Amino acid sequence: MRQKIIAGNWKMNLNRQQAVDLASQVVHGAVAHADTFARRSISLVLCPPALYLEAVLNQTKGSDVAVGAQNAYFQPAGAFTGEISSEMIADLGCTYVIIGHSERRQVFGESDQMINQKLAAVIAAGLQPIFCVGETLAEREAGETAQVIEHQFREGTKALNAEDFSKIVIAYEPVWAIGTGKVATPNQAETVHSDLRKLIGSCYNSSLENSVSILYGGSVNSANAAELLAQPNIDGALVGGASLKADSFMAIAASA
Ligand code: PGA
Repeated sequence: MRQKIIAGNWKMNLNRQQAVDLASQVVHGAVAHADTFARRSISLVLCPPALYLEAVLNQTKGSDVAVGAQNAYFQPAGAFTGEISSEMIADLGCTYVIIGHSERRQVFGESDQMINQKLAAVIAAGLQPIFCVGETLAEREAGETAQVIEHQFREGTKALNAEDFSKIVIAYEPVWAIGTGKVATPNQAETVHSDLRKLIGSCYNSSLENSVSILYGGSVNSANAAELLAQPNIDGALVGGASLKADSFMAIAASA
């Protein structure tokens, strides 16, 4: 069975106390659902702002809830004012790093090439990247979704061998669905997920094609999660807004 992952991307939200409280509520929920989650291979991941990683790690210590960063620079150390490295994130005890989120691509101008360097750096540090790809509304309306996703995938994973690639979790996040309340239909999402899976098979091998987890992200909430997660190639969710409340985040996880 492929690993199901429900990851909360808190973005630039919450203060320290709110982050600690939310993490603690999620840990309680995870304990309460421990048997079900284990049986269904469901993992929970929290991605707080970098400043609160340590506080959240303290809350999740000894639990099954993993912690990830939302970004990392590709150099391990050096004169890069304001940046943090994958080594630093690994040193804290995190497990994941989100790479290539559309907000990083669009607001901060990250290129496919930079995302490729970041993916390699995250893997080299022993962490698992959650590698995001997704088309804009204009690209979807122009019928370019499949090409855009393939381009982002190929450029992002360039020079990564199968061993490296096996550490990656993919997140399909249509840009038009992020934070808009406009969710992809289960059918729209499943089409892209199934294309991505075939792409993994053709770029790598059939074992990775079948084992890599592909998450959907973009306005996932407790009302639409079950239908999305029931699709054969949707292995979890990367949740923004609905991850800021323990109730809705846990309800999404319970529907996986
Ligand atoms: P959203 O964000 O759930 O608020 O749409 C998803 C994401 O950006 O990962």
